[in-house]
Amino acid sequence: MKPYIIAPSLLSADFARLGEEAAAVLAAGADMLHLDVMDNHYVPNLTVGPLVCEALRKYGIKAPIDVHLMAKPVDQLIIDFASAGATHITFHPEASRHIDRSLDLIRKQGCRAGLALNPATSLHGIEYVLDKIDLILVMSVNPGFGGQHFIPSALNKIAHVKALIKTAQHRIHLAVDGGVKVDNIQAIAKAGADMFIAGSAIYGASDYAKAIAAMRMQLNGAT
Ligand code: DX5
Ligand code: ZN
Repeated sequence: MKPYIIAPSLLSADFARLGEEAAAVLAAGADMLHLDVMDNHYVPNLTVGPLVCEALRKYGIKAPIDVHLMAKPVDQLIIDFASAGATHITFHPEASRHIDRSLDLIRKQGCRAGLALNPATSLHGIEYVLDKIDLILVMSVNPGFGGQHFIPSALNKIAHVKALIKTAQHRIHLAVDGGVKVDNIQAIAKAGADMFIAGSAIYGASDYAKAIAAMRMQLNGAT
């Protein structure tokens, strides 16, 4: 298993050519795709629903797709995205009335379950559902938009999440989402992250393979 996962966020892709853009980052060395689902209610932006995930599968995308739900409520979306081909479903605890139940639902649908933590969301309570989580996603920007700056306090939080993950009996990935760039990815890895979501840093580059290779080079220096 590769120690580090690079997951480009499709939010910064050219939506008129989404299938091609998804295939292009995978051909350029990405491990996974990250699909940002925004509902203009939980976050002040509106993106895509399950039919777009399904369209990517129909286009021939075989790689894992992490669906990042920035939407409220989550339970029906979990069911719909699982049948649309999501492999991972991550939601924000504030968006579910019953976090434990929503996590169960994700696994029952055959997907990996993730919890996403906003910059000011504490880890409080996560220890009680750790056995139901496959991924903890630390938001290093406020959710809603691509191209924002990395919030430095996220590094400290990553270290706290890492310590929590170490107490689990199974593998839990630590993802970081927002403002991840070639020049900060090494520090983020050193703080304890193993999964890197990057939108503008990859899709904003003229050569996706070069951008991903530059990130991997920095990651090699982190271990
Ligand atoms: C923000 C999204 C992120 C975003 C990352 O709400 O969850 O996935 O697309 O974009 P960059 O890498 O440009 O910050
Ligand atoms: Zn995201």
